[in-house]
Amino acid sequence: MSAPFNAPHDAALYRMICTEIEEKLRRAADTYIDHFPHVSTLPAEGLRYPAEENKIWTCSFFPGMMHLAYRRTGDAFFLKHSREYLASFQHRLDTRTGISHDLGFLYTLSSVALYKLTGDKRARDLALAAAGVLTGRYNEKGRYIQCWGEVGKGNPYVKIIVDTMLNLPLLFWAGEESGDPRYAEIARAHAFTASETLVRKDYSSFHSYLMDPVTGRAIEGRTHQGFHDDTTWARGQAWVVTGYALAYAYTKEPRFLEVSRKAAEVFIDNLPADNVPYWDFSFSDRVPDLRDTSAASIFTCGLLELACQIGGEEAERYRAVARTVVRSLYDHYFLHDPDRLGLLTDAIYHRVHGPTCVIWGDYFFYETLMRLLENGRYFW
Ligand code: GLY
Repeated sequence: MSAPFNAPHDAALYRMICTEIEEKLRRAADTYIDHFPHVSTLPAEGLRYPAEENKIWTCSFFPGMMHLAYRRTGDAFFLKHSREYLASFQHRLDTRTGISHDLGFLYTLSSVALYKLTGDKRARDLALAAAGVLTGRYNEKGRYIQCWGEVGKGNPYVKIIVDTMLNLPLLFWAGEESGDPRYAEIARAHAFTASETLVRKDYSSFHSYLMDPVTGRAIEGRTHQGFHDDTTWARGQAWVVTGYALAYAYTKEPRFLEVSRKAAEVFIDNLPADNVPYWDFSFSDRVPDLRDTSAASIFTCGLLELACQIGGEEAERYRAVARTVVRSLYDHYFLHDPDRLGLLTDAIYHRVHGPTCVIWGDYFFYETLMRLLENGRYFW
């Protein structure tokens, strides 16, 4: 059972945490230029982020944090490597390295962000090119975006996953930027299909769903990183809340708002006493396991997006929940060491890896703080 959601708005605290984060970013800036943080080492090995080649789905989160820092502070220091980031992401697209549905995460935070901040035309063109490649993963018959694997390779089935919801903003943005309606049509169609398959009738979620690529038929729900096919993976549920809130922001489609809201209630109902979720909702304070702080920080971002969209008392409630979760994250899971980049301990990538920092949890924690301070949508 969660504790009451009563943390007050504390702008001075949020600013102080942002300043702590920005100090970490300053110290890490020259370490991650074309190799990027992903998942840290374990606590016993110091929770440090190795610098990984630009091949993984998470490589844009560090540039994204630098872009957030520039947006908040206006300090050009945070753009000092933006040209190198862009060159690295250009090379990645040109060589089709590590291509999957995650082009949205990758090119929203590396390229759309830079374009929105500086008007850099190369960043715009790169993001549009990435959006074009992402549309190539769309299956017309099934009305979905295939997450992994090459498209059209004769597999008897392929997968869709809830995480894709955060890749759709790249398509919505590309549609607005280019004037070509097909980008948004694909994003809408995928969001509808996911709402009928990955989102269960009670608004909990499957992580993945098997699809027949020839007929487009939806086969059955599965998990990839959750505890079991029929349980709810906490981070997946957070992707649902935030992804549908963003899809609603672009489309004003009532079904997307309904999914985000109801999925948020499922998330809230599964918060334990310290308001930071276990990594899968089959665990609770009665049957505890490891937390996933990254699910918490994605969820708080989504709640604040929802609050922007709806206003009124319900928005105030979402903000109170977000503030309370943030307070718990900061009080119990924040890594106070300017020389270690990781912000939040106790995140889970795959359960077998154990508790680490993960760069996307850090990114969404920072974005949440900025949203608490100024209510923006930033780069999505
Ligand atoms: N998108 C992959 C994950 O959330 O782990």
